[in-house]
Amino acid sequence: MASINYSDKIPNNVNLATDRALQRALEHWQPHFLQWWHEMGPSDFEKADVYLRTATSVDAEGWARYGAVKMPEYRWGIFLADQVPDRKIGFGDAMGQPVWQQVPGEHRSTLRRLIVTQGDTEPASVEQQRLLGHSCPSLYDLRNLFQVNVEEGRHLWAMVYLLHAYFGRDGREEAEELLARHSGNADKPRILTTFNEPISDWLSFYCFTYFTDRDGKYQLKSFAESAFDPLSRTCRFMLTEEAHHMFVGETGIGRVIKRTLEVMKELGTDDPAAIRAKGAVDLPLLQKYINFWCSSSLDLFGSEISSNAAASFANGLKGRPDEPQYQDHVLRDATFHLQTPDGHGGQKDEDVPMLNALNEVMRESYLKDCEIGLKRWNRVIERAGHAVRLSLPSPHFRRSIGAWVGQYVAPDGKIVSAAEYEQRLHDWIPSQADKAFVHSLMQKVVAPGKMAAWIAPPERGINNLPLEYEYVHLS
Ligand SMILES: [Fe+2]
Ligand SMILES: [Fe+2]
Repeated sequence: MASINYSDKIPNNVNLATDRALQRALEHWQPHFLQWWHEMGPSDFEKADVYLRTATSVDAEGWARYGAVKMPEYRWGIFLADQVPDRKIGFGDAMGQPVWQQVPGEHRSTLRRLIVTQGDTEPASVEQQRLLGHSCPSLYDLRNLFQVNVEEGRHLWAMVYLLHAYFGRDGREEAEELLARHSGNADKPRILTTFNEPISDWLSFYCFTYFTDRDGKYQLKSFAESAFDPLSRTCRFMLTEEAHHMFVGETGIGRVIKRTLEVMKELGTDDPAAIRAKGAVDLPLLQKYINFWCSSSLDLFGSEISSNAAASFANGLKGRPDEPQYQDHVLRDATFHLQTPDGHGGQKDEDVPMLNALNEVMRESYLKDCEIGLKRWNRVIERAGHAVRLSLPSPHFRRSIGAWVGQYVAPDGKIVSAAEYEQRLHDWIPSQADKAFVHSLMQKVVAPGKMAAWIAPPERGINNLPLEYEYVHLS
């Protein structure tokens, strides 16, 4: 079961050949996907040979094979983690009952909506990153960008497979729509706001892969708990790919910091203007990018109070990430302590039913996970002898969904006046001038082993290859 059949037109480990109708439907969708990749995928790099990993099997030992591939020839396919024998529902009102191999009629539209919303983010990020290749800081980074891009393309396949296999005609129509909406498009935008934000520089790319792909990790983890077994198995395998995306983000930001500290040492100052004049990213500027992408990604978890989240949990559709770590899996009697604005410029504490607060539970565990990288970066800054520390913005800062919408909250969590907020916003998130400066740094570096001046080289190459390896052969 674990090994993947690459002789089929669509690589898969789901015995696609035994279901002719499904195979035909997906083979019909395949050229539409390739056309989308051609039009919306990385621009102008279709002829390049990219050192990519491809899944060969879904078990821990041998899932990846590395080799030079032209991106349009990447073997996108359908890979599910192995079925867990006798798997039982692990949470909600049906806890302990066998998981579902088909979609129960009463949950059909909710499950379809959840799958479509997740699926929509995958091609959206490829579209957001379409032009980044032209300003890559090194071949190593260019390769990582493309690796992330082809895997997001595969994640689209993962969700489209579920839509085709389990949702009939509606599912097939949704699969077409996933290729018709486009990031930032005025008429047909992607579903979630964060996935309509342009990613036009590499600092944004690293923040996106650190913060937004990590939201993806938490969504996938909650689906991995689902009673709908094919969704669970799909997401479990996607998580193994997702880990690399967050690695790109964490090491990317880490390398920016390392380079900045070198420049600070060289110049003997932490003056942002001096650091910028030397072509590096000052730490306050990096903090603004963190504030922007973290707050934007926090919206992806939805409202603090949500009856949809309660129903999805109670019905077994979507669990909490790492559900087994909790004691209570039904939550009918549990409450959650929540802080909401009191309407008079302050905040109040409220106890709400835990089931209704599950978006907030997820957001809290996500933020804890985000802290890990921050701690690591701050240790490096501390070791270099500097007092500044990077931090996550308050979860109440700049929210466009939920209880804190329209509230004037500073990144440190203090509620401020509207005037102060407007005046200081560009101390907190990148201003036009900041963005213009970052863009001015984005010059393409493609000599093997060379790095742009604003970022340190990585500690090691890919798959034990030296840094000087030609990870992308541009023709
Ligand atoms: Fe993904
Ligand atoms: Fe990702």
